[in-house]
Amino acid sequence: MPTPSEVPEDRSAVRTLLRLWPYVRPVRLRLFTAAFVAAVASCVGLVIPLVLKWLVDGPVADRDPAGVWLGALYLLLLGIAEAVLFGIRRWLVARPLSRVEADMRADLYRHLQRLPVAFHDRWASGQLLSRGTTDLMLVRLFLAFPLTFLLVNGVTILVGVIIMLLQDWTLGLVILGPGIPVMVMCAVFERRYARITRRAQDQVGDLTTVVEESVLGIRIIKGFGRHRSQARAFRELSETLRGTELAKARLLASIWAVIVTLPELAIGAALVLGTVQVADGHLSAGTLVAFLSTALALRWPVDSIGFLLAMSQEAATATERYFEVMDEQPESAVDRPDGRARPAASRHRPTESKDGGLRFHGVRFRYPDAPSGSPPVLDRIDLHIRPGETMALVGATGSGKTTLTALIPRLYEVTSGRITLDGVDVRAMSREELRSHVAVAFEEPTLFSTTVGDNVLMGAPATAGEQELERALAIAQADFAHALPQGTRTQVGEQGLSLSGGQRQRLALARAVVGSPRFLVLDDPLSALDVHTEAAVEAALRRVLDGTTALVVAHRPSTVLLADRVALLSGGRIAAVGTHQELLHTNAEYAHLMSGDAGDAEDAEYADLMSGDAEDSEEAR
Ligand SMILES: Nc1ncnc2c1ncn2[C@@H]1O[C@H](COP(=O)(O)OP(=O)(O)OP(=O)(O)O)[C@@H](O)[C@H]1O
Ligand SMILES: [Mg+2]
Repeated sequence: MPTPSEVPEDRSAVRTLLRLWPYVRPVRLRLFTAAFVAAVASCVGLVIPLVLKWLVDGPVADRDPAGVWLGALYLLLLGIAEAVLFGIRRWLVARPLSRVEADMRADLYRHLQRLPVAFHDRWASGQLLSRGTTDLMLVRLFLAFPLTFLLVNGVTILVGVIIMLLQDWTLGLVILGPGIPVMVMCAVFERRYARITRRAQDQVGDLTTVVEESVLGIRIIKGFGRHRSQARAFRELSETLRGTELAKARLLASIWAVIVTLPELAIGAALVLGTVQVADGHLSAGTLVAFLSTALALRWPVDSIGFLLAMSQEAATATERYFEVMDEQPESAVDRPDGRARPAASRHRPTESKDGGLRFHGVRFRYPDAPSGSPPVLDRIDLHIRPGETMALVGATGSGKTTLTALIPRLYEVTSGRITLDGVDVRAMSREELRSHVAVAFEEPTLFSTTVGDNVLMGAPATAGEQELERALAIAQADFAHALPQGTRTQVGEQGLSLSGGQRQRLALARAVVGSPRFLVLDDPLSALDVHTEAAVEAALRRVLDGTTALVVAHRPSTVLLADRVALLSGGRIAAVGTHQELLHTNAEYAHLMSGDAGDAEDAEYADLMSGDAEDSEEAR
């Protein structure tokens, strides 16, 4: 499971948080300086009780107004010094920490781009989104406050306790009394809180996924009148999250009650005991005042520990969730050691031998997340597309055509067997090299939020310009682009103009052909076009396909006619290869698949052929 909701028992928050070190390293100097300044500021606060003691036992006892004014001035100066020091701390940490957050976010994004498609199949996008936003914010907050203040408060408490013990060690021991139960409680609290924060943060991820899906699917939700049930599903999830947050708050409240009450009781006890001692003359009034104000000055450092621990736990969980993604293996550039050893020259030499073109050798593939025991989607695929040849790939829906095409640019890795381009295993090339040779147009034409021109030129090397763009638009019959409000500079995609399905498909096709790739893979590229546009695209494509080795997934006879030969994918295997005419007459399944399109004159001929063939296939089964 990518999102384990249970924290392993042996998880150590400290060990997890230490993983942040590489990011914190560049700002360590500022961070430590800031912590030091804060510690000094905090200890300045502890001098105030000592001034009070001097004030009570000296000028106040002697009824000396000038001395009292002087004491008040000291107190004021100390207060100002404390405030200024804390201000400096804030100034020191704010900028570098936003840098840390931005760096971590950039790293996460870069990593997400490099993770294989199989990873993205497995992970909900909301989970990734929440890691890049909420979790990183928690990490920054941790570095800004808890990290510093756990340290600062620790030092302050230590110094304060030493001062108190020096004033009067019996009273000091009374104050220290609750220390051990508080520490035990904190340890118990930590473990429980870790579990519950993990749950809460995972639920934030789930909630983000629902929001994202319903925004993307708004047309379907409205079209089917599902907004109520969608809202209900959302409310349920957000209620669950609220429940978890409330449980968190309850847990925090209970630890806070302990942390606040026990020291308060101890201070009360010390007050009673101290007053008795002053009455007996064993203790000066000034010492008692100093002692109690030190104890009171330590109240905030002690009280805040509950919050600080809670925030640290949340940050540890956030760090854990962040590194769950960062620890995933990105796709490796080259898989085979022999590939790297191969001299570059021999890699590029186009071989006119039997290995030229695009070739599948005994390829077997199953999706990494497919249930174990299920049959592979593709099995023992042997297919040879000769240099310059166009091969159509035909098969029933769900037969694995898209899967097969995705293996060529290595969006997925073959389970076994190999795929070669002009005799070179695709795994022996760097991904950049491979993708410069192969261009793809997918079934689902995706446009990004940028101009039409940029969307198309994405498929070309950086040097490509206006000329290549025009040529590609012409091939894909995407001249409509010139009629858009700002021509090819019109913004499209989610933040721009919405295009029709067929328009998007033609831009995706233009993107595939713009780089004049040696190998072209088209997954049903003309499905959304009307007959006339399709014919025009085909005529233009035929010229491009002349010099290109191409694999074209086709559902319609008209698309198939673009190809020199046709391969039929059935039952995870290439069942037949031949020309359209050959397969029509020899293969019942092919004739059946192609017979849906009744508008074609040729089709009338195989209407009767079909009925006979259908019986054949019944027998074959
Ligand atoms: N990411 C995935 N993870 C697991 N299984 C998948 C994944 N994508 C597709 N499949 C499964 O692989 C099989 C083949 O799917 P594929 O998309 O390759 O079919 P297709 O031939 O392209 O179909 P169509 O003609 O409808 O486009 C299907 O049974 C599908 O459920
Ligand atoms: Mg498909």
